[in-house]
Amino acid sequence: MCGIVGYVGSSRVAPVLLEGLRRLEYRGYDSAGVAVHVDGKIEIVRAAGKLDQLEHALEARPMNGSVGIGHTRWATHGRPSEQNAHPLLAGDVAVVHNGIIENHVELKRQLTNSGVEFSSDTDTEIVAHLINRAHTEGVSLMAAVRQALTQVRGAYALAIVSRREPDCIVIAKQSSPLVIGVGDGEMLCASDIPALLPHTRRVIFLDDGEIAQLTATEARIETLDGKPVERAAKTVDWSPVAAEKSGFKHFMLKEIFEQPRAVEDTLRGRVSLETGDVVDSELGLDGEVARQIDRVVFLACGTSYHAALCGRYWVEQLAKVPAHTELASETRYRDPVFTSRDLVIAISQSGETLDTWAAVKTAKEHGAHVLAVCNVLDSAIPRMSHGALYTHAGPEIGVASTKCFTTQLVALLLLAIWLGRRRDTLNSHRAATLLQALVEIPHAMRITLERKDAVHAAARRWMHAEHMLFLGRGLGYPIALEGALKLKEISYAHAEGYAAGEMKHGPIALIDENMPVVVVMPRDAHFEKTLSNVQEVRAREGQVIGIISDGDQEAAAVAQMTLSVPNVADAVLPLVTIVPLQLLAYYIADLKGTDVDQPRNLAKTVTVE
Ligand code: G6P
Repeated sequence: MCGIVGYVGSSRVAPVLLEGLRRLEYRGYDSAGVAVHVDGKIEIVRAAGKLDQLEHALEARPMNGSVGIGHTRWATHGRPSEQNAHPLLAGDVAVVHNGIIENHVELKRQLTNSGVEFSSDTDTEIVAHLINRAHTEGVSLMAAVRQALTQVRGAYALAIVSRREPDCIVIAKQSSPLVIGVGDGEMLCASDIPALLPHTRRVIFLDDGEIAQLTATEARIETLDGKPVERAAKTVDWSPVAAEKSGFKHFMLKEIFEQPRAVEDTLRGRVSLETGDVVDSELGLDGEVARQIDRVVFLACGTSYHAALCGRYWVEQLAKVPAHTELASETRYRDPVFTSRDLVIAISQSGETLDTWAAVKTAKEHGAHVLAVCNVLDSAIPRMSHGALYTHAGPEIGVASTKCFTTQLVALLLLAIWLGRRRDTLNSHRAATLLQALVEIPHAMRITLERKDAVHAAARRWMHAEHMLFLGRGLGYPIALEGALKLKEISYAHAEGYAAGEMKHGPIALIDENMPVVVVMPRDAHFEKTLSNVQEVRAREGQVIGIISDGDQEAAAVAQMTLSVPNVADAVLPLVTIVPLQLLAYYIADLKGTDVDQPRNLAKTVTVE
């Protein structure tokens, strides 16, 4: 869960690396550093803390050089400190690493016994020493890296520079992401595409078990056992400004406001209102699979798991297939049962979450058909799956997921409609009505976003609450969970999401006049029941903040405060009811002054178990 970046070209490299790291900071932000070739030496500057600290350190020590590597860290081995920050130097080589070396204890013992002294507590330094040891007279850096990696077990994306080879960077990948950016007379590498965008949109994804040598004009890719790999560059359609704040105070706020556009992009080309169907070729699935399956299993973590809960609801309702949701981190440690008649839908905005990836691998080994729903082209989970349905949210930088979540919802509803059509459980008329409702969502979202001031007022009223309960039923339940997750992630308030019907089995004991309760209570099929739960809260003097439908007097009468959303079809309600909850979390966090885009202890891509 770190970010790495490398550059070979003719620009001054330190600012290039810093800019790249800024765009990767979401991956980790407890320390950072760069290594640059300067006049026959490798100079290293590192700093504990966020990237600004590295920037100050670089201002104090400007470096010339036009070849270098950089890193932003999320500590796994060794506390966050300058000493443990990457790059790690060993003799002639400097290394940056994202991942975990699993056999580090054994390797460290061997190296220590042979006289190596360590200057950090990281597993990465072991790799640096192994490479340095292999990089003897006459052995190229590429050959030395290859040789060192035969001893290493685990996950890595590595970028390495050697004092003796000042015109190149060597990179290698196993499980952690790494992408090459092919520029004009310059070559880059990074953990993720946004870091490349200021220079190029032409990218080559490295595969597991591959190694490459980058010079200003060439990317020579080989497998670890020495076979040359020919792979053409792909052009990505993300614009360079997509990863900038564009006048918003935080990425998260920008991304909340981008949702109407992100939903439009995710729908584009996938909907036929005339035939009442979802366009076949866009789904990453074969119609035959749709007819053969007898179960759908959703695998996901975090926010993506909340999208899965909505997906389950839609699949059961529209395609009449039994559906289950699984927390990927739990699945992989059970002895899960999957069969060839399962369709597994793995949801992951990053495409990298290790738990989800491993659960997908297990499902695939058991013969299940796997479809990934993902926002990052060609990332690890889509690659591990049989097909991929991409959300087109664009780069999401804020650690708390917003537009990726809503575009996942869109993708899952499209999928459920498509399954229903293939399985003859949904007629074209009903499908067309649902699709029409989806097409109208961006407009309803825009209206909801325009009401931000009302949400801001609610945030001012509740910003000091230490606890908050979120309730909902049906599709409102995952939205309550997601609203609570958003709040705790970025404002550090304790928030719990609950199925409204479960309140009486425990959480009701918490309710008194100091407990704010956010209730997702639009006019859907569950409204009457949810209303009863609200009465139960009021009877115990709980403070109700209702997410209600426009013009609903009855709901407005029972809640102390309401935030209303446009009247849309029941099936698409989550796409609008989540918006005020995202804004509420954002404004409370901003009023409290927390670090909204990079909340403490979190990272956007979680590549540890
Ligand atoms: C992290 C992120 C969350 C995300 C979760 C799953 O915890 O901070 O926003 O929901 O990982 O990530 P994925 O990329 O698999 O959706």
